[in-house]
Amino acid sequence: MNRNTLLFASLLALAGTGANAADTDAIVQAWPARQPHRDAALKGLSLRQKIGQITQPEIRTITPDEVREYAIGTVLNGGGGWPGMDRAATPAQWRALSEQFQAAALQATPGIPLLWGTDALHGHNNVRGATLFPHNIGLGATRDADLVRDIGRATARAVRATGLHWTFAPTLAVVQDVRWGRTYESFGADPALVKRLGQAEVEGLQDGLKDGRGVLATAKHYIADGGTRRGIDQGVAHASPAELAQVHGAGYLGALDAGVLTAMASFSSWTDSAGYVEHGKMHGNRTLLTDVLKDRLAFDGLVVSDWDGIGQLPGCAPEDCPAAINAGIDIVMVPFKWKAFYANTLRDVEQGRIPMSRIDDAARRILRVKFSLSVSTDVPATVEAMQEPELARRAVRESLVLLKSKPGLLPLPRTARVLVVGAAADDVKRQAGGWSVTWQARDTSNADYPQATTLLAALRQRLGAAQVTFDPDGTTQDPARFDAVVAVLAEQPYAEGEGDVRITESLRHSRRHPEDLAVLQRVSGHGKPVITLLYSGRPLYVNDLANKSDAFIAAWLPGSEGTGLADLLVAPAAGEPAWPGFTGRLSFPWPAGPCQFSTHEARPWWPVGGGLSGAEKTEQPRLPEPADPPLCPL
Ligand code: GLC
Repeated sequence: MNRNTLLFASLLALAGTGANAADTDAIVQAWPARQPHRDAALKGLSLRQKIGQITQPEIRTITPDEVREYAIGTVLNGGGGWPGMDRAATPAQWRALSEQFQAAALQATPGIPLLWGTDALHGHNNVRGATLFPHNIGLGATRDADLVRDIGRATARAVRATGLHWTFAPTLAVVQDVRWGRTYESFGADPALVKRLGQAEVEGLQDGLKDGRGVLATAKHYIADGGTRRGIDQGVAHASPAELAQVHGAGYLGALDAGVLTAMASFSSWTDSAGYVEHGKMHGNRTLLTDVLKDRLAFDGLVVSDWDGIGQLPGCAPEDCPAAINAGIDIVMVPFKWKAFYANTLRDVEQGRIPMSRIDDAARRILRVKFSLSVSTDVPATVEAMQEPELARRAVRESLVLLKSKPGLLPLPRTARVLVVGAAADDVKRQAGGWSVTWQARDTSNADYPQATTLLAALRQRLGAAQVTFDPDGTTQDPARFDAVVAVLAEQPYAEGEGDVRITESLRHSRRHPEDLAVLQRVSGHGKPVITLLYSGRPLYVNDLANKSDAFIAAWLPGSEGTGLADLLVAPAAGEPAWPGFTGRLSFPWPAGPCQFSTHEARPWWPVGGGLSGAEKTEQPRLPEPADPPLCPL
């Protein structure tokens, strides 16, 4: 373009706008200067108030007055943390404490609300009376994203009923070794399934944030929590950068697509198995927390540390760790030593160990998240608002995986006289699994679950009490006097590392629970069919148990609605819907041997996607029962 043309084009362009620089300025100045709400709010915060925003105490260790004094912006209750340390606290009592915390926070930082986070992993499981849904391992077997989204919505409603705003869920682990004690918190071993169901859960949980229905979800534990060697909880995941992104990162892409607003750092460490580089604990990994998650993946929510997780970094303590904050942790979950953390971090910023820009970025992210939801809600503070039994019952039905069956055996006729064996048939804590009322749930009893229906109760409801006899260890009744035996075998409930299968142990269920094998030995071989259900947080080696069963059902950790189990065991009454048989399919391979820990075993009993419908016309062959090796290979 020659000079004249260029001059003419410029004049034309200027003429087109009809304004010179002075005019432009006047036009612009005619408008009020605005800025994103979070930036305006940030400007109004002192350094102390910003430190208060990034500090997350546990409710047992802080009072509303201290929330006001320190301008604390968030609290959590851990598993087994309740208002007044009362496990029977009502929704109204939870709500009242939340409102006290909220009022105190708004006095300290007007217009900036407090967030209360909790582990509502399978319903609002810390609160008495809430419906407990199947844990994620069972939801993975349903493969039903619509169901998972609805469970997310129901869980959000329950959390809101108690006045809370944030759940530390879903776990997006893609488990590589089922010895991990948190296998049941995972949807499965298939990255695509984890992505699809993780996205659905976040969509359900965060639906209606602005109108007080939804709650903040948490993509956790970032990253590769389920990839640690030998399934050791908080251990080291060996993966290449590509595996990290394509396997362990799949769930995060789904959660981000759903607009997840928080993520939680993992206790685990990462070693680059391609480059042979030990990157150490995730809580200090700036490349993955900031360069990948916040920049490359454009995550503009907040990252919360795990429980005292910053203290695991070299040179750090739970109450002092500039490295974790500089790596990209925005809120520090410091349940007990929060006052020391507050003082130390204030000093770290003042002395330059943490740049002010990092604190501002963290506070800005926190404010963005806080302004994404309404902390007030219309959900009533009632037990009924925490209950969705029919949704849970449907989830239980869809989660059951039939691994062995006999043609025509299931469902039992309504005239059947049934002998029920196995103490777990009437034990909610084993039916629900860990993270139920308390952290480990081992210290709970049926009295803690007034809303629950055990399988025994459900069978009595459907068949009539006279047709159902309970003989927990199978020592008092003659199975030959009944039409069928229902045997319930189970792991004891556990959470996190408490549930790890140690490296000297195998997956043989009857080794860890010989009482279950003994029960089956007593009731099998009497000419009456034995229908076995296994409550477990992981696939287990059960050839010896399946060979003493005519039907074998992986029931996972079904939760409070044992009615869903009876739906597939007993024929419907006239006028009741007939269920389409067993639709659950494995989201983990089922072991053919006691040492098949890996989710990539070449020859499992059943592969991912395996399971029967119950309509099959052929019986399965007897399973081999070779002697176990003295030790599983390390
Ligand atoms: C626990 C878990 C994490 C949970 C947090 C708060 O240690 O690792 O999943 O959200 O602490 O209870």
